[in-house]
Amino acid sequence: MAFVLPALPASVRVVEVGPRDGLQNEKVQVPTEQKIRFITQLAAAGLPVVEATSFVSPRAIPQLSDASAVMAGIQPLPSTMYPVLVPNMKGMERALAAGVRSIAVFTAASESFTRHNINMTIAESLEIFRPVVALAKREGMGVRGYISTVFGCPYEGDVDPHAVLAVARALLDMGIEELSLGDTIGVATPNQVYDVLALLMGEGAIPIDWLAVHFHDTRGTALANVLVALQMGIHSVDSSAGGLGGCPYAPGAAGNLATEDLLYMLHGMGIQTGVDLEKVVAATRTIAPYLGHMPTSKYFQAHEASSITA
Ligand code: HMG
Ligand code: MG
Repeated sequence: MAFVLPALPASVRVVEVGPRDGLQNEKVQVPTEQKIRFITQLAAAGLPVVEATSFVSPRAIPQLSDASAVMAGIQPLPSTMYPVLVPNMKGMERALAAGVRSIAVFTAASESFTRHNINMTIAESLEIFRPVVALAKREGMGVRGYISTVFGCPYEGDVDPHAVLAVARALLDMGIEELSLGDTIGVATPNQVYDVLALLMGEGAIPIDWLAVHFHDTRGTALANVLVALQMGIHSVDSSAGGLGGCPYAPGAAGNLATEDLLYMLHGMGIQTGVDLEKVVAATRTIAPYLGHMPTSKYFQAHEASSITA
């Protein structure tokens, strides 16, 4: 009897979130020029999207308070998009003044997390995003919508997938063309990924092309979750070089799935990404001394250990 692996996409678009999701949660303030160098190296590695920073309140996220200076220092490659997070019109105005061409707005599927993260209800966040998204569209900018706590909330526990669907519909209705489904605290297991994607694509009739997945690797399930998502047709996956990251408003959230670990798995399965894994390792090696700890990427750690013993 022949066993056949379920179909997998021929290529995956890797969305690098390390300079934003990673550095927003590092305890140290990384110098602006090192952030610019990190972003430059990641783009040069072939990453099609490098989320560069956030135009949020500097009191909420002091680590990214140099957002305008970071954007000013990037020499953009035509092959890479450099989106930023924007929570409100003030952030949008700052982003536009910094020459940003692509943004992401962010809310969640659970009320308590949304309150802690952006001090709003989910409904209020959607109202605040509406004119921001309309302005971005008039400016011809791409807009991504993040939904956090899709698979669990640090304050409320389980999250009903129908709550995810309701937020997804509201974001798509305001003209957002890509949704990233966030496992903010890294609790998801593959069966949950199946359940949420099946609901969004089935009852929600949301095309798979509009969905991306964003796993934090807190409990070591991120790659298993990615594999199930790929088998369901997802071909856009978020990750963070070195496994940097977490979320300051989600206690216990560890780093994002590491870009190196994701690339190693994808390339090993014959899935194209257009990204040079060794160049991502080099970018992580550049930023590592500024973090005060070893990056958590398993591939990175194995790579560095073998170059010491070689
Ligand atoms: P607030 O305090 O309710 O807002 O914060 P406010 O409108 O009352 O403003 C308070 C002060 O902040 C004012 O200054 C504003 O001008 C200023 P003051 O008059 O007191 O001097 N302010 C700003 N300054 C700069 N840029 C802005 C801005 N907006 C207001 N854009 C707010 C509400 C949303 C602003 C705040 O809570 C905030 O910035 N939160 C951001 C939190 C954040 O960035 N969290 C991490 C990103 S989400 C994430 O990581 C999850 C994700 O990775 C997916 C996943 O893993 O699930 C995306
Ligand atoms: Mg995140």
